[in-house]
Amino acid sequence: MAVDAGAFAPDHTSAPPRDGRDRPPGRLGLRARVTLTFAIAAFGLSALMAGITYFTARATFLSERQAAEQRQAFANAALVQNALRSPATQVTQLIESVDTLPGSRSVLRTGGQWYATSISVSQSAIPEAERTLVLSGTPASQLFTLAGTPQQVIGVPLPAVHAAYFEVFSLDELAGTLRALAFALAGAALVTTIAGAAVGRWASSRALRPLAGLTDAAVAIAGGQLDTRVQTGDDPDLDELASAFNRMTANLQDRIEREARFTSDVSHELRSPLTTLTATVSVLEGHRAELAPRAQRALDLLDGDVRRFTRMVDDLLEISRFDAGSAELSLDEVDPGELVRRAVVAAAPVGADGTRRPISFAVDLGPGVDGLRLRVDKRRFERVMANLMENAAVYAGGVTRVVVERQPPPIAGILLPADAIRVVVEDAGPGVPPAERDHLFERFYRGGRAGHRASGQGTGLGLSLVAEHVRLHGGRVWSEDAPGGGTRFVVELPLHPYATGASSGTGEDL
Ligand SMILES: Nc1ncnc2c1ncn2[C@@H]1O[C@H](COP(=O)(O)OP(=O)(O)O)[C@@H](O)[C@H]1O
Ligand SMILES: [Mg+2]
Repeated sequence: MAVDAGAFAPDHTSAPPRDGRDRPPGRLGLRARVTLTFAIAAFGLSALMAGITYFTARATFLSERQAAEQRQAFANAALVQNALRSPATQVTQLIESVDTLPGSRSVLRTGGQWYATSISVSQSAIPEAERTLVLSGTPASQLFTLAGTPQQVIGVPLPAVHAAYFEVFSLDELAGTLRALAFALAGAALVTTIAGAAVGRWASSRALRPLAGLTDAAVAIAGGQLDTRVQTGDDPDLDELASAFNRMTANLQDRIEREARFTSDVSHELRSPLTTLTATVSVLEGHRAELAPRAQRALDLLDGDVRRFTRMVDDLLEISRFDAGSAELSLDEVDPGELVRRAVVAAAPVGADGTRRPISFAVDLGPGVDGLRLRVDKRRFERVMANLMENAAVYAGGVTRVVVERQPPPIAGILLPADAIRVVVEDAGPGVPPAERDHLFERFYRGGRAGHRASGQGTGLGLSLVAEHVRLHGGRVWSEDAPGGGTRFVVELPLHPYATGASSGTGEDL
């Protein structure tokens, strides 16, 4: 089909690498199937043609050869008969003198005696049935093999002189010719099969090229580039598909943006009444002593809920920026160990006296972490650490250890070239039940341990924001069982993040 190479090429040049192309084992791809079909069809056709050619040629050669042999055998037999009429004839000389085709030998029986021109082909070489038939007066011919080569014998009875004349023709040359023909035809069939497979491969690649463009576009969209579109107008057969695809993407983008805008609008709208509420609560706090005990308890409840609500609105605003695709990285190049230490200190809870409580756990650096440089958005990383530490404090009695490691880890003390940094946050809490683990990073998911909604300050958005921040860096985050019980959250950040459009920060060091 007349598809331009550029048909359906996505408008985005920075499409992420394709993945998700796994298929069940043993199942061939479309291209392989078309190639195979073409190869089988080419093989079948060429084998049929070769077979027809071979058998036709064989039959023609054989019948021509047999006709020539017969003519010669009968001519020679007539010659021998005439010669035998004269009693002076020397049989041995006579039989030597008959004119034969190259490779043919004569055997003569006369006067109860056998004479032959060749020692290798005497009367005993002629099949018994042939001999009996001819000696009883019937001309006959027969195919047989002698010392591995095909032969044809033609026997002519000569009753007038009480003799019989046999001529044995070697068909070796004909067999050689047929063998060469068979080889040539098999070679041609092989070449045709390979050519068929190549044509199939080429045709399927050409036919699938527009689909590769569609796949690239779909992958780019799945990767968040919602403004990706495919070109139309290149091929009337595929335009419909391309336009439908573009319409679908536009609808999707529209919908996602509307939803993101809605969340963001609602959060913004909620902010001003919340500010008023917060201000009111702090005014009431100032007059706490004047309130009745029941009113004080009500004020505490109100205070807790207003804080929780404010936090939720802030988190929702942050999430809506991710959804709208407007979240941007502000990258700085930093020392990973220093980054984690600072983030841990910044996330430490503030005591009643307004100062941060000291950290009760160690920040361990794995071998070879010192000296590495990591490009990271410090504000986002601090949010990640703060959320993980807050969760540990609320659900697991606090963090017990933070480890910064290279990835891949050193093997037997040998440092491999690092391509990522892992920050592991461990606690000694009750752990996360396996059934909950898959949902931890979902929005508004609160595990069984979070208890009643009204209790605590959580909203179920903390870990989903952690995941978004880490994903924006091109990294990943997961939870697993800590070796001594409890949970460990692992944040993996690539050392050379695939982050397009990220604005670089001031480059100031930690
Ligand atoms: N360190 C931890 N140990 C046990 N469970 C945890 C831990 N951290 C998080 N969780 C579980 O994951 C859930 C989701 O956490 P998060 O998204 O931060 O929401 P929130 O803290 O607002 O409930 C929590 O409700 C809790 O059940
Ligand atoms: Mg939380």
